[in-house]
Amino acid sequence: MTGPAGRAGAERLLRLAGVAAGYGETVVLEDIDFALNEGESVSVIGRNGVGKTTLLATIMGHTTMHRGEIRIGPLVASRLESHRRARAGLGYVPQEREIFPSLTVLENLLVAARPGRWTAERVFGAFPQLSARAGNRGNQISGGEQQMLSIGRALMGNPRVLLLDEPSEGLAPVVVEALVRAIEGLRDEERLAIVLVEQNIRLALDLSFRTLVMDRGRIVYDGPSIALRDDPTRLDALIGLGAAR
Ligand SMILES: Nc1ncnc2c1ncn2[C@@H]1O[C@H](COP(=O)(O)OP(=O)(O)OP(=O)(O)O)[C@@H](O)[C@H]1O
Ligand SMILES: [Mg+2]
Repeated sequence: MTGPAGRAGAERLLRLAGVAAGYGETVVLEDIDFALNEGESVSVIGRNGVGKTTLLATIMGHTTMHRGEIRIGPLVASRLESHRRARAGLGYVPQEREIFPSLTVLENLLVAARPGRWTAERVFGAFPQLSARAGNRGNQISGGEQQMLSIGRALMGNPRVLLLDEPSEGLAPVVVEALVRAIEGLRDEERLAIVLVEQNIRLALDLSFRTLVMDRGRIVYDGPSIALRDDPTRLDALIGLGAAR
């Protein structure tokens, strides 16, 4: 849980203005506007297929931009290739965890290393369970460990903005709790800006002070999570029956 997002004078790390994007000629996202400061997280929720993954992929430069502008800090990144966006401070944890199965846990981390505060040692400090698996191959670790590895690998690039696509998917509740604490630590102590796409509505609304709801490629709500938590009828109206579970 957090207090109000950002503090006075917090640096703006990400901004999307009037973004329309999709796959080739197909436009999936329209009129996307939002900005995020250091030390702020925003949860993104919405039914299947509304464009949540496409939003993160667009920020990373993996889709076709049709209109608008994306800034990473002061840098206009709308036309930059994805590896340059990563270098400018973006870290991405994709929905498919994309662990290299034949590399060890340690090797999976080292391939992503860029100079900065995060080292393999520090990732192992943040995820002690991973440390015990350092020599195991990517295909010899559990789903929870793969998810931690995927986050650890993103951190090895020393990002200031972390994009997480459904990190809790398929994890046992106790592992989810550890993951939530790790994400909160990255936000509150490391001051990362975090975009969290999450199917678990309760988790999404609890973790971030602010939530975006998407529907058919657009942001249909951008405001306090608590307003949705306290109003299941409104939440249901925004994302459909049963969402408030
Ligand atoms: N690589 C692609 N090429 C073409 N269309 C795609 C591609 N990936 C996704 N789409 C389409 O874009 C739309 C948004 O998909 P997206 O994966 O962003 O949704 P999502 O909100 O992440 O869904 P989920 O909750 O199932 O992960 C869907 O209509 C989907 O079919
Ligand atoms: Mg998705």
